[in-house]
Amino acid sequence: MADESVIDDEKADEGRRHFLALATGVVGAVGVAAVATPFVSYFRPSARAKALGAAVEVDISKLEPGAMISVEWRGKPIFIVNRTEEAIEQLQAVEDQLADPESEKEQQPDFAANRYRSLRPGVFVAIGSCTHLGCAPKYRPEVAPADLGPDWAGGFFCPCHGSKFDLAGRVYAGVPANLNLAVPPYRFLSDTTLIIGENTEAA
Ligand code: FES
Repeated sequence: MADESVIDDEKADEGRRHFLALATGVVGAVGVAAVATPFVSYFRPSARAKALGAAVEVDISKLEPGAMISVEWRGKPIFIVNRTEEAIEQLQAVEDQLADPESEKEQQPDFAANRYRSLRPGVFVAIGSCTHLGCAPKYRPEVAPADLGPDWAGGFFCPCHGSKFDLAGRVYAGVPANLNLAVPPYRFLSDTTLIIGENTEAA
């Protein structure tokens, strides 16, 4: 059954309704509403572009610090996170617990083979599909929530078999998944607009 609060939001904000309609499956699956995502972005692929799996343009101007949105590209959920300064600092602190902290297993374009796994430290983009068996990981940016324990530093948690990823999508050692979340090709059209599906190096 649909969440009544979401329905209320839909009535209040037609742009938001449009996004949710496009991303219902993904957003519902990852429980975005439960992890403080107060704004969603206007997502603008043309119908033809979607059909062809072409690049999609995403306006992230209303994506608040700490929030995540999910959009669709080539039938895949694409997570976009506005990382806070605290989240960026946390990336280094967990590296000794990760399976591939240096991103050596080519799960990203060359431009994202860095600690942030992104073009810009503040914006993280990844394919929202667990590298174990493809479930949708949940975005859990909070530190030490009761259900994930005192060592949880924020990241992505896969509810299917318990794989854990940090806030750069880097997989923790000793979980079912053994690869980092994949990063799609993307580039910045402006400071607040992303093109998902076009590689920066090719632009
Ligand atoms: S599919 Fe994510 S842990 Fe198995």
